[in-house]
Amino acid sequence: MALLHQLAISLCLVVAVSSQSSQDLESAKAKLKEYIAKKRADINPRYRPHYHIAPPVGWMNDPNGFSYYKGEYHMFYQFYPYNATTGPIHWGHSSSPNLVDWKELPTALLPDKEQCFSGSGVVDGDTLVLMYTAHEITNASAPIYNETQFLAMSTDGVNFKKYEGNPVLASAPNGSPDFRDPKVWKHENYWYVVLGSKTDDNKGRVLLYRSSDLKSWEYLSVIGASNGTMGYMWECPDFFELDGKFILLMSPQGLEAQGDRYKNTHQTGYIIGSFNYTTFEFVHEVEFQEIDFGHDFYASQTIDKDGKRYMVGWFGMWDVPYPEAVDGWVGTLTLIRELSLVGNRIIQKPVEAMTKLREQGKTGALPPNGYIEFDKTGEIIVNGTLNQKIELLIEGKQGGGKAWLKWDPEVGKVIVDRGSNDIRQVEWSPIGRHSWRIFLDASSLELFCGEGEVVFSSRVFPTGDWRVTNLSPQTLDVETYHLKKSITAMTNGSSCRDISFSLLVFTFMMILKQHFA
Ligand SMILES: *[C@@H]1O[C@H](CO)[C@@H](O)[C@H](O)[C@H]1NC(C)=O
Ligand SMILES: *[C@@H]1O[C@H](CO)[C@@H](O)[C@H](O)[C@H]1NC(C)=O
Ligand SMILES: *[C@@H]1O[C@H](CO)[C@@H](O)[C@H](O)[C@H]1NC(C)=O
Ligand SMILES: *[C@@H]1O[C@H](CO)[C@@H](O)[C@H](O)[C@H]1NC(C)=O
Ligand SMILES: *[C@@H]1O[C@H](CO)[C@@H](O)[C@H](O)[C@H]1NC(C)=O
Ligand SMILES: *[C@@H]1O[C@H](CO)[C@@H](O)[C@H](O)[C@H]1NC(C)=O
Ligand SMILES: *[C@@H]1O[C@H](CO)[C@@H](O)[C@H](O)[C@H]1NC(C)=O
Repeated sequence: MALLHQLAISLCLVVAVSSQSSQDLESAKAKLKEYIAKKRADINPRYRPHYHIAPPVGWMNDPNGFSYYKGEYHMFYQFYPYNATTGPIHWGHSSSPNLVDWKELPTALLPDKEQCFSGSGVVDGDTLVLMYTAHEITNASAPIYNETQFLAMSTDGVNFKKYEGNPVLASAPNGSPDFRDPKVWKHENYWYVVLGSKTDDNKGRVLLYRSSDLKSWEYLSVIGASNGTMGYMWECPDFFELDGKFILLMSPQGLEAQGDRYKNTHQTGYIIGSFNYTTFEFVHEVEFQEIDFGHDFYASQTIDKDGKRYMVGWFGMWDVPYPEAVDGWVGTLTLIRELSLVGNRIIQKPVEAMTKLREQGKTGALPPNGYIEFDKTGEIIVNGTLNQKIELLIEGKQGGGKAWLKWDPEVGKVIVDRGSNDIRQVEWSPIGRHSWRIFLDASSLELFCGEGEVVFSSRVFPTGDWRVTNLSPQTLDVETYHLKKSITAMTNGSSCRDISFSLLVFTFMMILKQHFA
């Protein structure tokens, strides 16, 4: 959660909102549901994702509370229903049996005196417990806000009640007002939480605490801190074991761009090291590196399930234009990715169940200047020789936003170029297969190189359906699919799939045209 964006709105909120009784809360929830049901009818669907989570209406940013409870995965997100910009923040909610098919659920947390900033979810016995940052306005002059940690509980995975004993963590050891984004996990007999914060002289850092009951917390250590060049605030920390090492994944703010690196407004990346649960010391072994090299990736969160580590990110960024805002909504989450550690690099693969969405598979040779047409979605696996250039132009059939995906063998870099010098690029040394796997949704592309050692997530806003043209000097082997819709909207009352979309799927035709130059 980036703070500056919240300030103006927060100042208004402090005047307008007083504490809600539970009756008021029920009626506020019912009104909100009604509002969403009415408002969604006005949304222009042109950029709406078909298989990525997005808010039904209004604004979304960070994913929150990623968890597995009573047989379903749960995904929450920072949500402001009443505008396509941020505002007094709620928690939106979806659930899924398989990390691919997502069903929208009622808004889980509504702001009261506090805004419900980012946090996480864990299962304690029969209860799904959310721990989040209560962001409150305290004073009209600096520091004008106070951040403490709150709990909210549910025994049905839909209705959440805020804990009466909130806050459970009232302040950072140094009293910093920036104290947010709790990520909780259990190890042996204790719960642990990492929190993003900063030193008195504005260097980002991550704090570690533990608790035996999620309510009373003991401060343990600082597991990572900026040395002065690594940012003024470290947001959305996550800390977990992966293939024998410990990973501190977080979103530092305030890194200076350095060549190809750190070109987004804020970054997300990780430090690899080893950790000792007796000394609470995290020894850094490999310093910070970005986890995703695209234009739009922030505030990632992971969970562990059956020995696998899954990650999701906000498929967005602060302070960038969102063409979908005029349509009444903003923001989406990335595909869920399974992580593993190979050497000094986390590799990412789209969750396996993504192949369930494939339809109308085709394989063939795509010669230079040949193109493939899709409707709003597509998956493309591309094989070519890395001795020569690869270049794919991804664009709307009727124009609009476009991107060039390139491999330049001279410099050994993969490049995602949105035109007008809006370029992200990074070195790629394949550790296994040499192919690319590309996911197109109505306004996004995700490029997974090789085994997932290099990944780019970038929003692109085409006019009309997609066209992908081979601008390489070489013929590429391609495998293509249409991807089915996997997001189920909540209607006023029940959940059901959008009928007009089913018709669209029914009539869908993917044409493979090959034009020899
Ligand atoms: C939603 O349902 C409620 C009662 O079930 C009804 O009063 C309201 O008019 C409905 N709203 C919309 C937008 O359909
Ligand atoms: C909605 O966002 C616009 C653009 O930022 C702003 O001018 C307006 O005040 C916002 N309205 C509400 C209700 O937040
Ligand atoms: C608000 O902040 C100002 C300046 O720091 C301080 O003088 C004042 O006492 C504060 N007011 C309250 C109600 O805390
Ligand atoms: C925030 O509020 C808590 C009480 O809820 C208080 O203990 C803490 O000192 C406050 N922190 C700041 C930075 O004002
Ligand atoms: C962790 O630290 C304790 C105390 O220094 C030490 O006894 C133990 O061997 C360490 N564990 C590991 C796995 O290094
Ligand atoms: C600070 O840390 C970064 C990343 O670990 C490193 O590249 C840089 O050299 C360090 N700077 C100083 C002044 O120590
Ligand atoms: C790409 O290459 C991999 C192995 O190198 C192979 O398994 C796959 O079938 C190829 N795909 C296409 C579309 O040629």
